[in-house]
Amino acid sequence: MNEEVFFPDDKFIISKTDKKGNVTYGNELFVSISGYGTQEIMGKPHSILRHSDMPKIIFKKLWEELQAGREIFAYVKNKTKDGNYYWVIAFVTPSYDHKGNLLEYFSVRRKPEKSVIKNIIEPLYKELLSLENKGGVSASSTYLNSLLQTKGMTYEQFIFSL
Ligand SMILES: Cc1cc2nc3c(=O)[nH]c(=O)nc-3n(C[C@H](O)[C@H](O)[C@H](O)COP(=O)(O)O)c2cc1C
Repeated sequence: MNEEVFFPDDKFIISKTDKKGNVTYGNELFVSISGYGTQEIMGKPHSILRHSDMPKIIFKKLWEELQAGREIFAYVKNKTKDGNYYWVIAFVTPSYDHKGNLLEYFSVRRKPEKSVIKNIIEPLYKELLSLENKGGVSASSTYLNSLLQTKGMTYEQFIFSL
């Protein structure tokens, strides 16, 4: 319980969801690291992996970008079935048919740099979470926006700078 679990640097954790965020596909690593069985996790909301240390604002941003037809990178801490966790840097994108109709969402995740998680993401998410506990997602959103403004970066530029 509450132990970090790791996966190899050269492996990707891949999943797809329907338009509502229900899991429709997961590669072998996605299923094995989650601790769930394939049948157990297919069709479930992706939030089955949500870790309580994750600030809401990150997922709000993720869905805003996806619904606007854009792709997004995000650092995510996921919870396994038995209560352990793993960090990923996730690339999430909408996918469309040839007529431009939204088909599904797709995510490819790789292992993040340990130092980035420890020195930047963990302290940032801790702050965002504590602001959310006091003032809701508008408080964490204000904080994140002013942090980006101070840095003179967009969210995407900030993530790429890490
Ligand atoms: C393709 C795709 C992949 C996702 N991957 C994850 C993930 O690995 N972990 C996670 O907690 N949420 C993931 N999400 C976001 C969840 O759908 C959900 O928004 C999030 O877990 C927060 O839960 P909530 O929206 O019920 O608050 C993903 C969403 C999409 C569309």
